[in-house]
Amino acid sequence: MSKRIDDISRTTIEDVNKHVLNTISTLIKSELDAGFNAKFATLIQPMRIKLDNLVESVLDAATVRALLDVGFNAKYSTLAQPLKSDVHELKTKLTILNDYVLSLTSGNVEAAAYCLPDPRDKLFCHIAEHTRRQQNKISIIGIGHVGQAVLASLLFQKITDNIAIYDRDEDKIKGELLDFQYAAMYSSNTHIEGSTKINVIVNSKIVIITAGARRQKGDTRITLVQKNVEVFQDIIPKIVQYAPHAVLILVSNPVDIMTYITDKISCLPPGQVVGSGTNLDTSRLHFYMSHKYNVAAESCKGWVIGEHGETAVIAYSTLTVGGTYIEDINFKMGESCDIEKWSDIHNEVLTTSANIISLKGYTNWAIGLSVADLAHTIITNNKSVHPVTVSAKGFYCITEDVYLSLPAVLGENGVIEVVRLELSSKECELLRKSADYLYNMQKEIKI
Ligand SMILES: NC(=O)c1ccc[n+]([C@@H]2O[C@H](COP(=O)([O-])OP(=O)(O)OC[C@H]3O[C@@H](n4cnc5c(N)ncnc54)[C@H](O)[C@@H]3O)[C@@H](O)[C@H]2O)c1
Repeated sequence: MSKRIDDISRTTIEDVNKHVLNTISTLIKSELDAGFNAKFATLIQPMRIKLDNLVESVLDAATVRALLDVGFNAKYSTLAQPLKSDVHELKTKLTILNDYVLSLTSGNVEAAAYCLPDPRDKLFCHIAEHTRRQQNKISIIGIGHVGQAVLASLLFQKITDNIAIYDRDEDKIKGELLDFQYAAMYSSNTHIEGSTKINVIVNSKIVIITAGARRQKGDTRITLVQKNVEVFQDIIPKIVQYAPHAVLILVSNPVDIMTYITDKISCLPPGQVVGSGTNLDTSRLHFYMSHKYNVAAESCKGWVIGEHGETAVIAYSTLTVGGTYIEDINFKMGESCDIEKWSDIHNEVLTTSANIISLKGYTNWAIGLSVADLAHTIITNNKSVHPVTVSAKGFYCITEDVYLSLPAVLGENGVIEVVRLELSSKECELLRKSADYLYNMQKEIKI
């Protein structure tokens, strides 16, 4: 009975296979022998000399041989070790070649390609799996001017090595990802992922929210807020779903109102929702102080509190330079007869945003750095004090459920404590006015 076709081809493949394996084995054997002999020769030479010397001396030949055997066996084991690993490596190569030949002879070129050794295995010796740290993941919602500045600040200050960005504009995300990936040299091998799907933020430790509607012609402050409320009603529950333990940092304006709304929609534990608030206004104040006294901004302390906006309060009683209270040396701070004209600084701090917007159309760099500073405090749980938007009910006789900036201790879960400032009666009054202003706006919003 004649052989079936597939039997014949199987026999042929097996023959080819055997032949290839035999050839490779012979090659490996001869290579091994050459290597072994070379190493063996260098070992045996000094032994021969030793043997001759010993024979000439008083010892008999049998003792010499016994001594030599002990030495030889010891040396042999050190010689054999590298040869053993050579043999192991060659055996692995042989197996790979075997698979390759098998795939080729069976006509499966694609499978054959997989059998070839990966050049990466030549570059690295694999020890353990690659992982990416999850506990420091920071997500940015909205990658417009502010989102980009936050991203740049997080990256270049190396605050995290794991960032996710979410926006509804796919091209913007693609463009930013491409642009930022070429900054890899300067950004600590940070992993940045972007998507129009909100699940990209999964397991974030911090979510920074900068998305929001832009003011259109004819929009009042309230219509703008109402548009943002609709955006937030859609995205906040999804953020909480995918990152339930994340601290939410609100940046979208009006930031105090948006913090209030987010706190209500999210139902997160107290302190887990925080607004960037007057952290930016405070750094602006420190800039003007440093300019005025010609000292570093870091040596100027004190807070801007209340609304992030026109009713913000510069708490003069908290301002120090190099540890000295300004009010102790200037009793007329902020009054019309104040020779230092603190009211000018007050105006500069509060109107500078509008000036920047009239010049370049938006503000982004200082807010980006200021938000990255908040993220740094939270991610490192370093408990620095920042003026941020928190629930203010109960402080300084504020009776309404209103959110505004007060200095607060921040940690890994957000706000830990609110600092009780010893404010003057005038400052308390201004703060309550700021709260009233915000509360009146809040009342008009439909959640
Ligand atoms: N708190 C502060 O101190 C401060 C400072 C500056 C700006 N802001 C505020 O930050 C916000 C952003 O400003 P910007 O200049 O970056 O604006 P922008 O228009 O440049 O960026 C907004 C981004 O949000 C995205 N977006 C809008 N709605 C979205 C949605 N539903 N889902 C996903 N993405 C959405 C847009 O596609 C856009 O990329 C504004 O509300 C602005 O007033 C706050």
